[in-house]
Amino acid sequence: MMYAMWSGVSVDRERSRARLRRTMSMHLWLLLGVTLLSACGRWGVAQSPAVHYDEARRTFRMDAAGTTYVLGINQQKQLQALYWGKRLGSRDQFPAAVQSPPAAAFDQPITTTPQEFVGWGGGLYVEPDLKITFPDGNRDLALQYLSHTIQGQLLRIVLKDVSREVYVTLEYTMDAETGILRRAAEIQNRTNASFTIEQVSAATWNLPRGTDYRLRYLTGRWAAEWTVQERAVQPGKTVLESRRGTTGAQNNPWFAIDRLGTGGPETGSVWFGALGWSGSWQITVEQDLLQQVRVSGGPNSFDFGYRLGKGETFKTPPFYGGFSQEGIGGASRLLHRFEVDTLLPHAPKPTLRPVLYNSWEATEFRVDEAGQMALAEKAATIGVERFVMDDGWFGQRKDDHAGLGDWYVNKEKFPNGLKPLIDKVHGLHMDFGLWVEPEMVNPDSDLYRKHPDWVLNFPGRPRTEARNQLVLNLARPDVRAYVLGFLDKLLTENDIAFLKWDYNRNWSEPGWSAVAPDDEKRVYVDFIRNLYSILEELRAKHPRVEIESCSGGGSRVDLGIMHLTDEVWTSDNTDAYDRLLIQNGFTYAYTPAVMMAWVTDSPTWVNQRTLSLEYRFLSSMQGSLGIGANLNKWGPEDFATAKTMVAHYKAIRETVQRGSLYRLITPEHESEHSVTESVARDGSAAVVFAFLHSSRELYPFPRIYLQGLDADATYTVASLNGKLATDTPERASGAYWMSRGVDVLLKGDFQAAAFTLERQSAAQK
Ligand code: GLA
Repeated sequence: MMYAMWSGVSVDRERSRARLRRTMSMHLWLLLGVTLLSACGRWGVAQSPAVHYDEARRTFRMDAAGTTYVLGINQQKQLQALYWGKRLGSRDQFPAAVQSPPAAAFDQPITTTPQEFVGWGGGLYVEPDLKITFPDGNRDLALQYLSHTIQGQLLRIVLKDVSREVYVTLEYTMDAETGILRRAAEIQNRTNASFTIEQVSAATWNLPRGTDYRLRYLTGRWAAEWTVQERAVQPGKTVLESRRGTTGAQNNPWFAIDRLGTGGPETGSVWFGALGWSGSWQITVEQDLLQQVRVSGGPNSFDFGYRLGKGETFKTPPFYGGFSQEGIGGASRLLHRFEVDTLLPHAPKPTLRPVLYNSWEATEFRVDEAGQMALAEKAATIGVERFVMDDGWFGQRKDDHAGLGDWYVNKEKFPNGLKPLIDKVHGLHMDFGLWVEPEMVNPDSDLYRKHPDWVLNFPGRPRTEARNQLVLNLARPDVRAYVLGFLDKLLTENDIAFLKWDYNRNWSEPGWSAVAPDDEKRVYVDFIRNLYSILEELRAKHPRVEIESCSGGGSRVDLGIMHLTDEVWTSDNTDAYDRLLIQNGFTYAYTPAVMMAWVTDSPTWVNQRTLSLEYRFLSSMQGSLGIGANLNKWGPEDFATAKTMVAHYKAIRETVQRGSLYRLITPEHESEHSVTESVARDGSAAVVFAFLHSSRELYPFPRIYLQGLDADATYTVASLNGKLATDTPERASGAYWMSRGVDVLLKGDFQAAAFTLERQSAAQK
C-alpha cells in the first residue's frame, strides 16, 4: 500500500524521499499510510498504481489491484524479469537480479536469463525482441540498462547497445483498477546511417518457471470465428500469428496461460495478454531449455523489414498483460473492465450500444429509398434506436463485382441523395448509420480505372482478387488523403451517426513500388498507422460519429482497433445456436459491450436450422443487440415478440454491457448446455441466459448456480420468458441463489430461458 505514495514523483525526487524515509520511524509511516487510505476511501479516489524503484537492489516494482510486477537490473546491466503474479506484501523486498548461469558451454547466460527485452546478439537462441541489420553487415545487438524515469504511473527505461548508438525505451503503465500492464518499446537510431529492423516485439512476458502450463488461444475463419483452443505448453514454441496484413480470424492476438489442474474456470492463477495491433502480428509462446516460459509479441517478423533512418524512432504497438487469481473467468472480466473503463474511445464512460437494425440480410445489395424507408418504419415499431443501411448504396454497386472505391450516392437507387432516407429515419426517432469499406477497390470502378497503381501489387505480377476486390495501399499518402477526404465529406454532408467500417479480404502481393525497394516492407506498419490516424482524425472532426470495426465478421478485432472504434462485428454467422459458441469464445478476450449480435431470419442461411424468434433474441441479448432480419416477412406475432424482447433488453442492457460476465456453463466441447450470467458492477442486479441444445434421456437441465452476488442481500427473481421451475422462490438471499441455485424448465431442442435478479433495498427486505 505504501508504494501508492511513490507515484507521481520523478526519480530525483524519489531518491530524496527515499533518504527521508529511512530517517522516519516505521510508526510514522504506518500512521500516514492509514490516514491516506482512509482518505482515499472517504473521497472515493481509486488508489493510483505505484512504480517503485529500489535503488539498493536496482529493482523496479509495480503494484495495482491484485497484481505485482517486478524487474531488475543485473550485474551485466541486463533488464531481467523477476516476478509477475499475485500482489505481494507491501514491505516485501525483492532480491536483486542475478543473471542465470550458463547451461553448459552450449547455452550462455544471455539465453538462459529471462529478460524484459533482449536484442539478438551474443549467443541468443530464444526469441529476440529486437533484431537489427546494420549497413556494415553487423547484426549483433547487446542492450544494456542506461537510465530510467518515473512520471506518475509511467515507467520508462532506456537501454542502449554496448557500442552503437541504438537506444530502446521501454514503457510500462499499470492500470489502477485491473493491474493490467501496458508495455511498448521505442527504437531510436542515433547512429550515422540507416539500419533495418528485421524483428521487433512490443514486450516479452516471463512467467514463473514451470512445466504444468496450459495455453488458451483463439482460432477461426470466416463465419466460424472465436474458437477457444487449449494446449499444454511444452518445450519448443507455439507461434500465434497473422501474415494477412490485418488481424485475421485464424488466430486472434490474445493468449491466456494457467497451470493445469490447479483451478476451475473461476479459480487459479491465469496470466494473459493481448496485442494492440491490427496489422500482421505474432505472439510466440516459448518454453526454453530451463523450463522457463516467455511470451513475446509484436508485428509479425515474417517478410518484415523496416529501414529506420538516422535520427528516426520506431514505436511498437502496445502489448497488454494481466494476471488473475480468479481463473479464466476472472481474467476475462479484468480485460472487459479494462476495455470499457480505459481502452474504448469514450472510456471510462462509453455510451451503451443502441439497439440497431441493419439491412444486410434483408436486402443485401438491393437497397433503395423506398425499400429502406419501409424497413425503417417497421424497425421503429419494435423499439430500434439506430437504422443502418448496409452495402449497395454507392457507385455502380449492384453486387460485389463493382463500385468499391466510388463513394458517391447511386442516383438510380437514391435519386435525391441520402437526405430523404436520413430525414425519414430521424422522423422515426432513430439515428442513421451507413456501411463503408474504405480500404478496398473493385477493378470495375472509376477509382481503379483512374489509379490502378493505388493497390497493393508487385508491378508486372498477377494481382489476386478476392470477392472481386483489391486492397488499396493505405500506406501511400495519396491513398490516405483520398480515404480521409471521402469519409470526411460523407460525414460533413450527411447527418450520419454511425459508420460500419468493413474490410472484406486479406492482403496478397503486398508490394509498394512507389518507394525504394529497401522501404517497401514498411507497408506492414505504415498501412496500419495510416488507418489509425484516419480514424483518429475522423473522430476528432466528427466527435459524435460512432464506428464499428467489421471485417467480413470478426477478422479485425484487437485492442488496437478497439481503441478507435465503438463496437465490433462478431461474425457474419448469425445462426443463433452457432453464435453461442462464437460469442462464448469472443468473451474470453473482449467485452460483450462491443460484441454486436443480430437477430436474423429462420431457417438461418448458415445451417438451414429453424430456431424460434425468442431463442434468437435471447442468444443475441447476451451481447449488444441488433436486428438483421427481413422485417417484410414478419407477421404480427413476430413484431409483438420482438417488441417485448427489445424492451427487456433495454432494461438489462446496462448489466450486460457494463457488468461482470460469468460463463456458468460453456457451450464448448459439444456441450448440450450453455449458461451465462452478467452481474451489475454494484451487485444490484443480474441477468442469466440459459440454452439447451437437445434434451436426452429424461435428464433435467443442470441446476444453475449463480455467482458474484451479494450473499447477504435479498434478490427478487423474474423470468423473462416463463421458464423458471415452479418451486423457485420469488425472493431469496444472494447466498441462496449461489448455493442452492435455480432450475429452469427446458426440454426439447434449441430451447432458451432467461431471468433477472434484482437486489432489494434495505427498506424492502
Ligand atoms: C461483410 C459484412 C456483412 C455485410 C457485407 C456487405 O461480409 O461482414 O455484414 O456488411 O460485408 O457486403
